[in-house]
Amino acid sequence: MDLKGTQLLLLFFVFLCAQGRKLNGDSIPGCILIERNALLGFKEGLKDPSNRLSSWVGDDCCTWEGVACDNRTGHVVKLDLRNPHPFSFIDYPPNNNWSLGGELRPSLLGLKHLNYLDLSMNYFGGIRIPEFMGSFRQLKYLNLSNAGLGGLIPHHLGNLSSLQYLDLVNDLDLSIDNALWISHLSSLRYLDMTDVKFREDAHWLQALNMLPSIVEVRLFGCQINTIPLSLPHVNFTSLSVLDLAFNSFNTTIPGWLFNISSLEYLNLSFNFNIRVIIPPTIKNLASLKFLDLSDNLFLDSRIPTALGGLCKLQHFGLSYSNINKNLHEFDEVFTGCIKNSLETLKMSHALLSGCLPDLLGDFRMLKSLDLSSNSIFGPLPASIGRLSVLERLDLSNNKLNGTIPESLGRLAELDSLDLSSNLLDGVMSEEHFAYLTKLNNLALSQNQLVLNLGSD
Ligand SMILES: *[C@@H]1O[C@H](CO)[C@@H](O)[C@H](O)[C@H]1NC(C)=O
Ligand SMILES: *[C@@H]1O[C@H](CO)[C@@H](O)[C@H](O)[C@H]1NC(C)=O
Ligand SMILES: *[C@@H]1O[C@H](CO)[C@@H](O)[C@H](O)[C@H]1NC(C)=O
Ligand SMILES: *[C@@H]1O[C@H](CO)[C@@H](O)[C@H](O)[C@H]1NC(C)=O
Ligand SMILES: *[C@@H]1O[C@H](CO)[C@@H](O)[C@H](O)[C@H]1NC(C)=O
Ligand SMILES: *[C@@H]1O[C@H](CO)[C@@H](O)[C@H](O)[C@H]1NC(C)=O
Ligand SMILES: *[C@@H]1O[C@H](CO)[C@@H](O)[C@H](O)[C@H]1NC(C)=O
Ligand SMILES: *[C@@H]1O[C@H](CO)[C@@H](O)[C@H](O)[C@H]1NC(C)=O
Ligand SMILES: *[C@@H]1O[C@H](CO)[C@@H](O)[C@H](O)[C@H]1NC(C)=O
Repeated sequence: MDLKGTQLLLLFFVFLCAQGRKLNGDSIPGCILIERNALLGFKEGLKDPSNRLSSWVGDDCCTWEGVACDNRTGHVVKLDLRNPHPFSFIDYPPNNNWSLGGELRPSLLGLKHLNYLDLSMNYFGGIRIPEFMGSFRQLKYLNLSNAGLGGLIPHHLGNLSSLQYLDLVNDLDLSIDNALWISHLSSLRYLDMTDVKFREDAHWLQALNMLPSIVEVRLFGCQINTIPLSLPHVNFTSLSVLDLAFNSFNTTIPGWLFNISSLEYLNLSFNFNIRVIIPPTIKNLASLKFLDLSDNLFLDSRIPTALGGLCKLQHFGLSYSNINKNLHEFDEVFTGCIKNSLETLKMSHALLSGCLPDLLGDFRMLKSLDLSSNSIFGPLPASIGRLSVLERLDLSNNKLNGTIPESLGRLAELDSLDLSSNLLDGVMSEEHFAYLTKLNNLALSQNQLVLNLGSD
């Protein structure tokens, strides 16, 4: 080997050492020195009262708690520092020994190949999300939910063009002034900003409507008070979950919502404090499995007969909605294919009146029926015995009268039965309970029923 060759070899060795790799015979693939130092620098800023990061010593940072490296390149690709001990109210983060706290130091930027970062369920005392968080070009997953972070969310997060999952569920005072940075997250599939305060004119909908891959959006309790009534073009082609519960829209339910044909879950409960109508376009929601419109106190609506078009609807909730309709229309509304798929029907506190239709027995897939706290009168139809997969039945707090049909005893899957606070009378015999072997909860109080059962 000539001098040049030796120099080259030497250079090569220096290079490998700089990469922090072990060169002795039984070399284990250690981690890359720069990244190890980045992690140690980050750790220095953290408070770790329970010493969760005690394994962060030695050369091979790939074996440290919460750290994962790419097998091929040795780069740190994942940092998962989620608090593994979920807290309760008593040991809420400031008092929770398992929470990490302190500072989020920019030395983390040494992890250039990071694609997964989870700091959720810790408590950083209300510090802001650092702007450098927007610099992880490869990041696919960012979870800062319930991490005790506060203040305005930096627009720099909009630089995370590979991001697919963004979870910013807020436990302090995170807020967003202008959501347009979200529209740059062109790979985003999942967004949860529960309890983040959206300031007025945050353009939340315009931003979301620019995301071609978005599947799930949770904006629960975001203090959003306007939902645009028109949208020039509904871009959402893959949106499946939209949770907008607990905002307070001062408008009616916009028709474009029902043009999102991929929607399976729509939660609009606790929102509208003006009189709203359910637009007839609701029939476009051919994939809807869950619709929650509860607690919209002034819902001024006859459920459009179009609802019959919701072929895949599996759950339907209208509790606490001031529908004030007569159950004569019930027949009309729930004919169509909906009866073949509906699994949950919840219309409690909805000012329903009228009788239960015989048609009820046709809802063969129904697992849970809750029509409690309405003004439903008349008998419980014998057809109820055909609901062979029914697990929960709550008709309490109505004006049901007459006797209870013996067919009730055929509901072999029934776990919970509540008929309390009605005007039911007559005798209940062992026939009424013949096959109810799975029954766990039974409430019949405040009726005029006579129970005629054997002692066993
Ligand atoms: C790395 O290796 C481990 C164990 O051999 C394996 O479980 C894991 O899937 C590998 N990861 C990658 C990214 O190849
Ligand atoms: C936290 O640690 C302190 C001291 O070890 C202990 O007294 C306290 O009970 C712990 N708190 C919780 C919530 O575990
Ligand atoms: C983020 O973390 C929280 C709590 O640790 C967890 O419940 C949630 O599912 C995570 N989000 C995503 C998108 O994985
Ligand atoms: C990241 O985003 C911020 C704010 O949107 C911007 O000022 C900055 O130039 C961006 N940085 C890079 C490296 O693109
Ligand atoms: C629909 O999305 C594309 C890019 O994803 C965007 O250019 C366009 O402006 C969006 N349309 C509306 C009405 O927001
Ligand atoms: C909703 O769909 C209907 C029928 O397909 C269409 O005429 C209307 O323009 C759509 N509205 C929006 C806002 O996309
Ligand atoms: C709804 O609230 C927004 C913002 O506060 C306001 O600009 C708008 O005029 C309100 N609309 C109605 C119908 O009250
Ligand atoms: C819809 O939101 C309300 C209000 O938070 C909640 O009670 C209900 O469980 C939600 N529905 C579903 C299916 O999660
Ligand atoms: C049940 O109540 C309705 C309406 O109040 C009444 O017309 C009917 O006669 C009652 N039926 C029985 C069996 O009491």
